[in-house]
Order: sequence, then C-alpha cells, then structure tokens
Amino acid sequence: MNPFHHGVAITGQEFCPRPELLSTLRGHIDSNQNCVIRGVRRIGKTSAVLETLRTHKKAKYIYVNCWGKLDVDSLASAIYEAFLIHQQRKGLSIEKIIRGFAHLRPKVALDPYSGEPTFTVDTRADTAQDPRSIERVLDTLAHEGKKCPLVVVLDEFQALLKLPKAEALMATMRGAIQLQSHVTYFYLGSTRNLMDQIFNSPDRPFYKSAASVNVEPIERSVYVPYIKDKFATGKRGASSAALAAIFNAACDITGDVQQLCSEIWNFTTQGETIEAETVPHGLERIHRAEHESNSRIIDLLTPGQVRVLVGLARVGGASPTSKEFLTAAGVAQPSSVTRAINRLSDRGLIYDSPKGYRFFSPFFRTWLLTQEL
Ligand SMILES: Nc1ncnc2c1ncn2[C@@H]1O[C@H](COP(=O)(O)OP(=O)(O)OP(=O)(O)O)[C@@H](O)[C@H]1O
Ligand SMILES: [Mg+2]
Repeated sequence: MNPFHHGVAITGQEFCPRPELLSTLRGHIDSNQNCVIRGVRRIGKTSAVLETLRTHKKAKYIYVNCWGKLDVDSLASAIYEAFLIHQQRKGLSIEKIIRGFAHLRPKVALDPYSGEPTFTVDTRADTAQDPRSIERVLDTLAHEGKKCPLVVVLDEFQALLKLPKAEALMATMRGAIQLQSHVTYFYLGSTRNLMDQIFNSPDRPFYKSAASVNVEPIERSVYVPYIKDKFATGKRGASSAALAAIFNAACDITGDVQQLCSEIWNFTTQGETIEAETVPHGLERIHRAEHESNSRIIDLLTPGQVRVLVGLARVGGASPTSKEFLTAAGVAQPSSVTRAINRLSDRGLIYDSPKGYRFFSPFFRTWLLTQEL
C-alpha cells in the first residue's frame, strides 16, 4: 500500500517528529496564550496543532475549519457542531447531548469513513445573521473553559475576512475572546497577507492580540530519513541524489514532498532503487494529473497576467519590476506588472515572501514551465 499521504492532516505514528514546534505550541497551551500559527500552504500547520493537542496530557480542544463558511450563521453552526463533538469525546452519551443541547436542535450522523458520530445543528433562528450573536456562541466556550483546559482551533482563520459584515464579526469575536482567561485560541492561516491584515494592522480588532508561531519546513536531516523509511516499507531504495531532487522540486514543502513521493511510488516496484533520473517522471505525472485544473486557472487570467505569471516562473519573483524581468515577461510598464501581481496574489496563485514572490504550489510553477504560453 502506498505509504505516502497528502491532502489530509497527519497525526500519530505517521507524524514526522517536530519536537521544537510541538514544544512551542505546548508552551502556549500551558500558559494559556492565544496564538497565531502561520505558514505556507501544505507546510503542516494543521497536523502540528492536532498532534500537539492529541499528545497533550490535559487540554481538550474544539476544532473549527473557517474555510467555506458563508455567513455568521454557518460559522456559529460550525463552532457549535465542533463543541458537541468535544462533548462526545469527553464521554457524554449521544442521548445526553441531544437532550442537554436541545436548543441547538442537534442531528446526529455517522461519519462513513471513521464511524465517529458527527453533529449538525440549526442556529438560524438564534443568530439571524447578526455578527453580535457570535458572542453568545463564544460564551458557551468560555463557560466550558472553566470546567477543563480548552483550546479552540480556528483553522483557515483568514477565510472569515470574506464573510459579510466581517469587520463587525471580527470586532465582536475579539471583544469576547479577550475576556476569556480560561480558553486558549489558536488561529491558523496560510494566506500570509490576509493573516497579516488581521493581526498586524493597527486599525484591525485582532492587532497584536496573539503570540506568533511560524511553521517552517521540516529539517531535511529529519524528513529525508522519514521519507527513505517509507520507501523502504515497499522494499524500494532511494539514492541521496534522488531524495535531494525530490526535496528541491517540492521546495521542501512538507505535503508537496509527500505528493511527489506518492506519485513516484505508484510507478516503481519492489526491489527498485529510485535514482535522480526517476524524479522528473514523477513530476510529469503530477503535471498530467493537474493539467485540467491548472488550465482552468490560466483561462481565468488576462493575457497580461499570464505573461507576468510565466515571467515569475522563469525568472523568479525577487525583483519583478526590474528591467530584466520586464524584458523576460514581455511587459512594457512596471506598473502593469504591479497590477498583475496584485491580482495574482488576490487569486492565491502567488504570495509575497521575504525572498520575493513565490508560487502557492511548486508543481504549478513547474507545470507552467512546460506549457507554451
Ligand atoms: N509532521 C508531518 N509528518 C509527515 N507529513 C506531514 C507532517 N506535517 C504535514 N505533513 C504532510 O503535509 C500535508 C499537509 O499537512 P497539513 O494539512 O497539516 O498542512 P497545512 O499547513 O495545514 O496545509 P493547508 O495550508 O493546506 O491547510 C499532509 O497531508 C502530509 O502529507
Ligand atoms: Mg491546514
């Protein structure tokens, strides 16, 4: 069986150790310190937080994914649903949950994969889409925090900026959270500029309201042996040059390394040693699998934006308004590049890093280089 997993949070035995990061997160839980956890896509934020909580001796947690929430009501429902799962994990029977929280009109279903119960609640009548109603939801968590050490994980927190009345919602949340001395809030997010808008802008309610933790790539000295061991479970060897080529192609991004390894696993066999020459074949397979969705992304861009994107892929994003870049991209005006870059960032295709603009996915960049655009 393919031992590489990507696109899902990894915990337990599969979790490649990150002792320093976990110890920092544990420290924040123990000192009741709200915390913003940032890092690029697929670097391992959710996995690290869930593994910290799984191995914490005392803390209980509520996990809410803010992604895709359309309004205050769907956010309130998601928090309540996570709260009911926490009640169930604490040992409360389903009957007691249904009776004890009857005002939420909970419905239970079994997750077809895990077999665990999941809950849906109906809060429409309670919230009436009023951002202030979130205060009542958070009060429930505050109350719970007095009974047991509680961590509330708000994953993809930046997605809340897209909600209607986001500013009022954020202000209400901040107001309620700052009074909760017994609950620790972890805000996770990957879109750096949006997370910065929330936590680093003096005119925003969450300004400097939480400690900051950056999730970086796992050190190669730890992650390479982990990957090598996984190949060994299927009696595949991997040369040092091959492993270096994999990590380079994936830009050391934790999940992308596993995606490429998973692809390489699929076309290699027991007894084989994976060499550096094997890696481009794995990349090609990823490009082929992602061709359609990547093409759709390109179709939505203007020709000017495509030129800038291809320029970034070829030249790099360290100085996109330089003469060299303008020539390579075939763009006349630096201001056109700036406008295109803003749009590409808004679409989440690139992000600003201390080393210049980078692609959200290293494989999207290498796919672009194979296209005649
Ligand atoms: N400690 C780890 N050990 C092994 N693999 C890991 C680890 N952390 C992350 N991964 C790999 O990275 C992938 C993405 O992990 P995770 O979902 O935790 O990242 P994320 O930063 O939360 O991503 P996103 O930005 O998409 O929310 C996992 O599916 C797994 O392949
Ligand atoms: Mg995540």
